[in-house]
Amino acid sequence: MAHRWTNDLTHADATPEAAFLNRRHFMAGAMGLGLAAMARPVAAEELELNSWEEITNYNNYYEFGTRKEDPAKYAHRLTTEPWSVKIDGLVERPGDYDFKDILSEMTIEERIYRFRCVEAWSMVVPWNGFELADLLNMAGVKEGAKYVAFETLYRPEEMPGTQFPVLQWPYREGLRLDEAMHPLTLMATGIYGKPIPNQNGAPLRLVVPWKYGFKSIKSIVRITLTDKEPPTSWNMANAGEYGFYSNVNPNVDHPRWSQTSERRLGGGLFAKRQPTLMFNGYEKEVAGLYEGMDLSKYY
Ligand code: MTE
Repeated sequence: MAHRWTNDLTHADATPEAAFLNRRHFMAGAMGLGLAAMARPVAAEELELNSWEEITNYNNYYEFGTRKEDPAKYAHRLTTEPWSVKIDGLVERPGDYDFKDILSEMTIEERIYRFRCVEAWSMVVPWNGFELADLLNMAGVKEGAKYVAFETLYRPEEMPGTQFPVLQWPYREGLRLDEAMHPLTLMATGIYGKPIPNQNGAPLRLVVPWKYGFKSIKSIVRITLTDKEPPTSWNMANAGEYGFYSNVNPNVDHPRWSQTSERRLGGGLFAKRQPTLMFNGYEKEVAGLYEGMDLSKYY
């Protein structure tokens, strides 16, 4: 984000073995979505997946440092077992839910999503996970709930980056309830069919594919249903640059750079940038959530 932006290109030339999956595999992935027509705009046969190496070695996880290589270097220190998630606020069944118990109730699917960072790089990731809506329904959303707040683990002894006040820890994010209940909104537990690596947010991270990547909060320990828009880390750090909504939008530039195009990871330093799509290509599915809203105001 604000940090290391100028260094951002230094990793681009690490040309990886691009993972080309054959069409049948892609289609299987798309059908695994269980979303029928809804999943189609992912245009499974057109998307080239980023490799495991790219996805797990070029990360933003500031609790482990601000350089793209820091999370892969330091996140092995994170203890992810046992793990529980507190679900509280406006829910019927508040409590500390053991991660294993959550998993036993959920259906894991594969979702191939575009992922667009606010820093204007992007990837395509084959996530495994379950719909956030299923988890929220498990806890029972009470009438009156309008927002969902999320918190990352804060454990300084395992997270060397937290000694620096880059952000106010713990990392916090939030969604409007209808965004959280949208079938595209995923709680990811894996990538390429393997457990999600620590640097990508083990054991449980949010993925909201039509929003900038910083909304996709990692290593979640708390989910709170509330009637007020919750404070979020990047918005607290710089409200003029990072709004609550943070929908991918090529028509609204970041104050310090353009959002009209993006650099696909793995394309090499001289690869042509590709145009950024409204709502990251999920416009058909999600534009209705923002009808009547001025998206340059609610950025
Ligand atoms: N979650 C936490 N807890 N801490 C972070 O620093 N970075 C965010 C998001 N989630 C971040 C986080 C940002 S800026 C991005 S782009 C994505 O994670 C990066 O996800 P990835 O490393 O899996 O690609």
